[in-house]
Amino acid sequence: MTVSIAIDGPAGAGKSTVAKKAAYLLGYTYIDTGSMYRAITYLALEQQADPEKEEEILPLLQNLEIEWKQENGENIIYINRKNAADAIRTPEVTASVSAVSAHPLIRERMVEKQRELAASGSAVLDGRDIGTTVLPNAEVKIYMTASVEERARRRHEENKAKGMESNLETIQQEIAERDLKDSTREVSPLIKADDAVELDTTKLSIDEAVEKILEMVKERT
Ligand code: C5P
Repeated sequence: MTVSIAIDGPAGAGKSTVAKKAAYLLGYTYIDTGSMYRAITYLALEQQADPEKEEEILPLLQNLEIEWKQENGENIIYINRKNAADAIRTPEVTASVSAVSAHPLIRERMVEKQRELAASGSAVLDGRDIGTTVLPNAEVKIYMTASVEERARRRHEENKAKGMESNLETIQQEIAERDLKDSTREVSPLIKADDAVELDTTKLSIDEAVEKILEMVKERT
């Protein structure tokens, strides 16, 4: 049986950390759908396309080849055969990704690819529209949240741990802005699916959140 687990929620709620760990413990594939929208945004910026103009970005999809390779236990994204793990997480890409991901035809193509990936075996997918649009029949659906203050604090700590410059207030603003854009766009906005279970991680550790997901998988499969 192929099992799909959908984890949606706003930026910085801990989705990717928790999804990755749950996937590892279950022996499922982890699919980070945000990295796919970041990849096309990266290419758009590299080609000097306007993130607001779908007609400038759409043709670039023909030259976008996304692959993931396992390296030292990490799933590394390759864009057109180049390691792009850092390139898709720059502040420039982060600032433009919500504009790019709001375009309907771009979403259509990404959703198609995500469904193909999910069909090839049991998987944990994280994103914004997995439970509502990509996999409405997923066996387990989670809507992961945390207060904006806590989400900003975590991102700030992560940045500092990586030795990056970081400003808590700027991060909080950036997160709030991205959430607003993602949840008010016309196509597949960020919204809790009716049948998703809300998991507020404000006061939960990573392991506690993972444990809750594993319990749900056990109950439903
Ligand atoms: O998850 P991450 O923060 O890397 O996602 C980056 C952006 O990609 C989101 O802010 C959103 O605009 C877009 N996205 C989306 N649908 C998804 C995953 C991400 O629109 N399923």
